[in-house]
Amino acid sequence: MAEDKGVGRRWSSHFPFGLFRWFVGQQVLTLALSFFGLYFVSLFWFESRSGVSPEALDWGRYLILLTLGLAFVVTIAVSLFMGGRLVVPLGRLIDKTKRIREFPFEAEALTPSELAYDEPGEWYELERALNQLGTDLRQKTIRLSREKTELRAIMSSISEAVLAVDRDRRPLFFNPQCAVLFDLQPRETTELSLQEVIRSPEIVAAYERALNQDELVRVEANLKLKDKGFEQSFQISIAPLRKKHNAEIYGAVGIFHDITDLKKTEQIRIDFVGNVSHELRTPVTSLKGYIEALHEDIKAGDLSRAEDYLGVLETSVGRLALLVDDLLDLSSLESGAELNLTRVDPRELTESVLTQLNCQDHEIHMRFGVESVVVDRLRFEQVLRNLLHNAIRYVPKGGRIEIVWDQVPGMTGKVQLRVKDNGPGIPAEHHERLFERFYRVDKARSRDVGGTGIGLSIVKHIVQRHGGKISVKSSLGQGAEFICEIPQEFSK
Ligand SMILES: Nc1ncnc2c1ncn2[C@@H]1O[C@H](COP(=O)(O)OP(=O)(O)OP(=O)(O)O)[C@@H](O)[C@H]1O
Ligand SMILES: [Mg+2]
Repeated sequence: MAEDKGVGRRWSSHFPFGLFRWFVGQQVLTLALSFFGLYFVSLFWFESRSGVSPEALDWGRYLILLTLGLAFVVTIAVSLFMGGRLVVPLGRLIDKTKRIREFPFEAEALTPSELAYDEPGEWYELERALNQLGTDLRQKTIRLSREKTELRAIMSSISEAVLAVDRDRRPLFFNPQCAVLFDLQPRETTELSLQEVIRSPEIVAAYERALNQDELVRVEANLKLKDKGFEQSFQISIAPLRKKHNAEIYGAVGIFHDITDLKKTEQIRIDFVGNVSHELRTPVTSLKGYIEALHEDIKAGDLSRAEDYLGVLETSVGRLALLVDDLLDLSSLESGAELNLTRVDPRELTESVLTQLNCQDHEIHMRFGVESVVVDRLRFEQVLRNLLHNAIRYVPKGGRIEIVWDQVPGMTGKVQLRVKDNGPGIPAEHHERLFERFYRVDKARSRDVGGTGIGLSIVKHIVQRHGGKISVKSSLGQGAEFICEIPQEFSK
């Protein structure tokens, strides 16, 4: 908006010379013709009179010319004055129209003091109508500009990308999220076509449907975006845009709702249910089979294999109990169970865990660079137990396991627990999914050794609940190292 001061100075006054020249020209021409006519008629009448002496005739001619000349000059002066009065208000109205167009936000553009009360009524009416028009325009411009600002703020603040195209399939407008999503620059607004912006025939076809069939279209599509190595899933709603006065479609606007996480969660849920059922089925089938066999034997009065059967039943029940415990643990961690934080000596905690495990077949090394850490003791025992249990489980006999508690280099107040082994290692392509529930690198082998793939996901949850993070360094045949980083003095 222009500054108020100086607005008046910016407005030059306009004198409508064109109309003034035309008006005066007409007047002069008409008057000149009339006066010439009058002069010749008077002269003819005067000369045709009998008995007039030649001197009186000369005087008479001279007098008629003088009188008509004077009358001509006076009439021209009056007509100049009248012409001026008539066209000056027009000049002012032209100025005002220009000001309204150039400065639609400024009330000063419509100074009511300029109303021409003393001029012909039509000018007054015209200026009044112009002022009213200007006021309406000003209000509409202010309203439109406010709506535009609000709309832009809404567009920028919503998380969805928005892209509108016109009938030529060229972008009409898009919000910053859309620019980021499709790597657009504002200048490309009119240069690119829809196909060049969105390289998905499915989405382009949906825009076509909205434009041609005049209906709200919803599609789900995957897009592989520039600079991102993976595909993202979107639910896109595309609605036709219509002109208000005749409802003609002039474009279509699409809203891109990112449902990648939703899809992932849905997949995890499906996998989880499938995995749990699968894990339960094995011990339950075995329980069912052995109970039936035991039943048969009891009926037949043969109890010679009862001891073996009971052993198998015990293992299966144990496995079921373990699975249920793990699942309950996970669910309580996920539902944000309270931590019982206490100051713990890492050495004492580690030694206590080692006594619970059967690790005589491995070479255990320990190093302690920190003397205390604030954690939920039982939860952290669980972390170490799971990591050590994995190492013992997957590293062949005689293997080396190293446990290190230390400060995180270059980060004060952060502690790390590292469990490193020289076992078979984990190929890099599994690292990303390793901490997911039920994820096992070698399913058959893990199941053989009694693993369900929940251990590391429990570890990850506990570490995260302590405000930390877990990572793995490993490659095939090179051993594995699990690193948990947590704040030394964690407080809820
Ligand atoms: N130290 C390790 N060396 C090699 N592979 C490992 C190691 N630790 C874990 N893994 C791999 O990661 C997978 C996931 O481990 P996780 O502890 O979550 O499950 P699990 O040991 O199979 O079962 P659970 O711990 O629930 O009894 C394992 O199945 C195994 O394939
Ligand atoms: Mg495990």
